[in-house]
Amino acid sequence: MANFETVVVETDLLILGGGMAACGAAVEAAYWAKKAGLKVALVDKAAMDRSGAVAMGLSAINQYVGLKDGANTIEDYVNYVRNDLMGITREDLVASIARHVDSTVHLFEKWGLPIWKDKEGNYVHEGRWQLMINGESYKIIVAEAAKNALGMDNIYERVFITGPLMDGDRCVGAVGFSVREDKFYVFKSRATLVAMGGAVGVFKPRSSGEGAGRAWYPPFNSGASTYFTLMAGAELTCQEVRFIPVRFKDAYGPVGAWFLLFKSRATNALGETYMETRRPELDKWVPYGHVKPVPANLRNWLMMLDVMDGKGPIYMRTEEAIKKIAASESDPKKAKRKLKELEAEAWEDFLDMTISQALLWAATNTQPEEKSSEIAAAEPYFIGSHSGASGAWVSGPKDLAPADYFWGYENLSTTPSMFCAGDASGASSHKFSSGSLTEGRIAAKSAIRYLVNENPPAGNYDDAELERLKEEIFRPLSVYAENKDKTTQVDVNPHYILPKMFQMRLQKMMDEYAGGVTAQFTTSKANLEKCLELLAFLKEDSEKLGARDLHELMRAWENKHRMYQAEVHVRTILFREETRWPGYYFRSDFPSMDEENWKVFVNSKYDPKTGEWTLRKVPVVNMF
Ligand code: FAD
Ligand code: ADX
Repeated sequence: MANFETVVVETDLLILGGGMAACGAAVEAAYWAKKAGLKVALVDKAAMDRSGAVAMGLSAINQYVGLKDGANTIEDYVNYVRNDLMGITREDLVASIARHVDSTVHLFEKWGLPIWKDKEGNYVHEGRWQLMINGESYKIIVAEAAKNALGMDNIYERVFITGPLMDGDRCVGAVGFSVREDKFYVFKSRATLVAMGGAVGVFKPRSSGEGAGRAWYPPFNSGASTYFTLMAGAELTCQEVRFIPVRFKDAYGPVGAWFLLFKSRATNALGETYMETRRPELDKWVPYGHVKPVPANLRNWLMMLDVMDGKGPIYMRTEEAIKKIAASESDPKKAKRKLKELEAEAWEDFLDMTISQALLWAATNTQPEEKSSEIAAAEPYFIGSHSGASGAWVSGPKDLAPADYFWGYENLSTTPSMFCAGDASGASSHKFSSGSLTEGRIAAKSAIRYLVNENPPAGNYDDAELERLKEEIFRPLSVYAENKDKTTQVDVNPHYILPKMFQMRLQKMMDEYAGGVTAQFTTSKANLEKCLELLAFLKEDSEKLGARDLHELMRAWENKHRMYQAEVHVRTILFREETRWPGYYFRSDFPSMDEENWKVFVNSKYDPKTGEWTLRKVPVVNMF
């Protein structure tokens, strides 16, 4: 690897990722760092303008509390999130974001994001907490603010972070490589903020063939936050709480606007509304089965019961919803205009954030005002900022956190000097784009305060360890180069495994044994143990990952990250002996919820030196 230049970057605060949380962190950190004379650097594997989950744009801001209008209270938001997550949530973290999120939304507007307004100039709500936006350029607008705050000299784009740099048990930076140039990067920092999003591609997607990269969650995020925090020895939480979004089938268009703004029904093929016909099922999941809105996973579950009974396909009744709204105008001219407006809004909803769904409508001659569209449950994803909850176990704020949830600085993980935000921080769901950016701000301010108050020393860096890391990072290139002539077919070779093959193997075992689409999201102790057995073989073979170029090297590392995301997920589902989120996963051997024994967080930890895992129950403390 002598031809790979080593680039060393020294900084006080290192922000990992360039998504919503990282952009918020950049804006906030720049402000406080300037006052304190500190340096801040940011690294993104992609180009910030279009990186992460907001890459394609969004059609709504999903968290706006409206505190100033008196519309809602912080407690209202906490209640909503707690109920949606079947009682398992860090109320201190949720409240902390909820009290600041409105100011973030006002910043978006100041930066130039068009938010829909009614005739009186008020925001147009999609639902109680959601605002409609013209959001095609959302990410560009947010990235511009972050770039202006930090300056391009402090931003490293297209640098893939592989893992942490440690000094004993303290995180003192990160290592990675350029996906465009032959460069090995060493970032040395006194504090690090992890915000590299969640994970897609751990489970086999519904899509196949050339469409396999198409998923609800964007392909860019592949478990880096989980891998990084695990390898830094941090405690993680809620790694069993995956998210299964029900979306327009095959192109994954959003359903929120249809359910909340257009008040559409979803029915089975017989025209029955499963949310009504299946209502008695909700009694089994009380108290959460009786709250409003019905938790996302239970909404999924009622739909899945219909599917399992052979009553599919399931349809979003778009034509019915549009006609109903238009019919509310008694003047025929106005009704016609309204119909046109609704058609435009329906298309824009997709064009703002899921262009492929609009293409699929066009390709299948679907006019939403005339024809229903199929919806389906997608494969599992890890996105703690949305309706999942996976992430690191972090300290809450001093004024809100119960004693056991507080250790000095907001969003500090259990690894010294390492902070987490967005998908990287767990047990605080429903942050979405606005809450993730807010949490990035909170975490960055806290990290700068930590640097000022504690003045942590620079880390000790061992040159031999850096050389070892460099060799490990680029190994897939040499594994391929040394063995490429031992085959006549490039993707089949006993001496190496290419990332695509490796990923298919991972996805197949997760799909079949850990409750993927093929298994109708159902699993059990026996299946999970089988999965762990196969994962151990996969881990052995990960040493033989081969890569033909830098792009494939990135794919190799993405899959290594995914493999650990998979393992911590399987171990955590196995540990929790109940079914709590039946529409996310169902344990056939523990088919009901057990409030007495399992109304707890499950926290997990990995010891990178010994390879040992520790899982433990942590009590849920209610604030409200
Ligand atoms: P992201 O914004 O995804 O950022 C992750 C960053 O990490 C990216 O910059 C990525 O390039 C970088 N990264 C990843 N791996 C590495 C690595 N190895 N090295 C370096 N960098 C790395 N929210 C709403 O408010 N409204 C909506 O309508 C809405 N719709 C959504 C639709 C979809 C399809 C999805 C997936 C999410 C949606 N959300 C919505 C939620 C919102 O997008 C997320 O909550 C938010 O983006 C999470 O922020 P984050 O910073 O944690 O992750
Ligand atoms: S998005 O992430 O792709 O934008 P989606 O459009 O489905 O998600 O949902 C947006 C918001 O609406 C989320 O806050 C989600 O929880 C909420 N939502 C979607 N469907 C419903 C429903 N049927 N009832 C209540 N809330 C819903």
